[in-house]
Amino acid sequence: MDNLGTTAVKFHSGIDIPLELHKVRMVQKLHLKPIDERLKAMETGGYNTFLLNTNDIFLDMLTDSGTNAMSDNQISSMLQADDAYSGSQSFYRMEAALREVFGKHYVLPVHQGRAAENIISQVFIKPGDVIPMNYHFTTTKEHMELNGGKVLEIYTDEALKIKSSVPFKGNIDIDKLKTVFTEYGKENIPFIRMEASTNLIGGQPFSMQNMRDVKKVADENETMIVLDASLIGENAYFIKKREEEFKNSSIKDILLEMCSYTDMVYFSSRKVSSTRGGGILTNSEDLFMKMRDLLVLFEGFLTYGGMSVREIEAMAVGIIETCDDTVISQSPAFIKYAVNELDSVDIPVITPAGALGCHIDAMGFLPNVPQEDYPAGALAAALFIVSGIRGMERGTISSVRDENGDDILADMELLRLAFPRRVFTLSQTMFMIDRVKWLFENRDLIGGLKWVEEPQVLRFFMGRLAPNSDWPQKLIAKFKADFGDSL
Ligand code: F0G
Repeated sequence: MDNLGTTAVKFHSGIDIPLELHKVRMVQKLHLKPIDERLKAMETGGYNTFLLNTNDIFLDMLTDSGTNAMSDNQISSMLQADDAYSGSQSFYRMEAALREVFGKHYVLPVHQGRAAENIISQVFIKPGDVIPMNYHFTTTKEHMELNGGKVLEIYTDEALKIKSSVPFKGNIDIDKLKTVFTEYGKENIPFIRMEASTNLIGGQPFSMQNMRDVKKVADENETMIVLDASLIGENAYFIKKREEEFKNSSIKDILLEMCSYTDMVYFSSRKVSSTRGGGILTNSEDLFMKMRDLLVLFEGFLTYGGMSVREIEAMAVGIIETCDDTVISQSPAFIKYAVNELDSVDIPVITPAGALGCHIDAMGFLPNVPQEDYPAGALAAALFIVSGIRGMERGTISSVRDENGDDILADMELLRLAFPRRVFTLSQTMFMIDRVKWLFENRDLIGGLKWVEEPQVLRFFMGRLAPNSDWPQKLIAKFKADFGDSL
């Protein structure tokens, strides 16, 4: 039996299911509306799950960003918040916690992850620069390009394979990284970016060995390493589970070693500490001074950076809790359960299971929908209509157009079903699996999408689409035939 949590709880029956290592003490009512109302909500939302209203949603698996469950200790810490424009005690508590977990002295608070990307990109990237990385994130890429930089993804050959047993698909390919320096010259490479639990390719982690190898290349070329630590807790958990050398290490020790190879660490607190907010950390006074003034300009004073003091208090507690095995193992354990269940009936999902969510390969799921018709967006819409579950398109809709106005087809067409930490129960997870299986059996009924209104920047957030035929009506007719009165 696989050990899903780090407590290695075995069931007498031999059943292999994740066990909730917490109890639910505050609840929120959910809405599971009839299928015709779900269709109406999808139409109102322009077939874009970002534009849905949570009153129409049953399980919100859009993201783990800002939606992880907060602990009793986090909530109660908010009551001691010290409201002050500068010098707040709340900030010093958070600063101490971040120093302890990441091993960096200087703390620059920002209102969320992309604000950190804005400041780092403005300060360190000049036109013509290239930035090698294991994989891009949407907002990261936009900020780097806005400042004249070019993103170079140098993942391994395994990274984009849907089915794989390679434990660290988020690794940088070291040989390719060396070639980048020969080709572009170190003077044009301000830093190497590593993203923990690489978001857009299925929450796939990198190994500590890979980090050490990247560090060697960075040192040889006198270049910095910048770590996007938004999902670093889960990456550390996978290092513990999958890299022999670390099986007896604590999450905290693993985090400290990961960060020790970096010059700067930035993060979205919406993920890493189950709060809101973000930050940039460094041990270099020089780097701190370079960023300090922009921080005050864009975010707020140095001791709040656009965050409320209540969030700052909750962050101080949350970042320590991220190092707790029973906290950090929960989301990966549920994701692994869902991935294994879907994989067992040959539904194409990214394996091995990673962080953040269960990622369904929409091109494999919907071979009849051409990539130009946005299969991942169509699958997200179809799943919402048949279940009230909101997932997120991570495919060509989330991509951009080239200079000729043609879509740059995404490397992968994924429907991401996020598992925010400690939010969903096992029976809710089983409901999701059940409806995805039904959809798979009826996949021939699903068609594609077309644009109705397409924004110029980050179009996936606010863009509106429509089905390219009456496929939603056909899907609903089959649902009613199979499920009768059931929601
Ligand atoms: N970096 C990574 C790896 C992220 O996953 C995100 C956000 C950011 C940076 C930006 O942080 O949202 O606080 O400004 N990811 C969210 C998601 C949006 O749903 O995956 P932010």
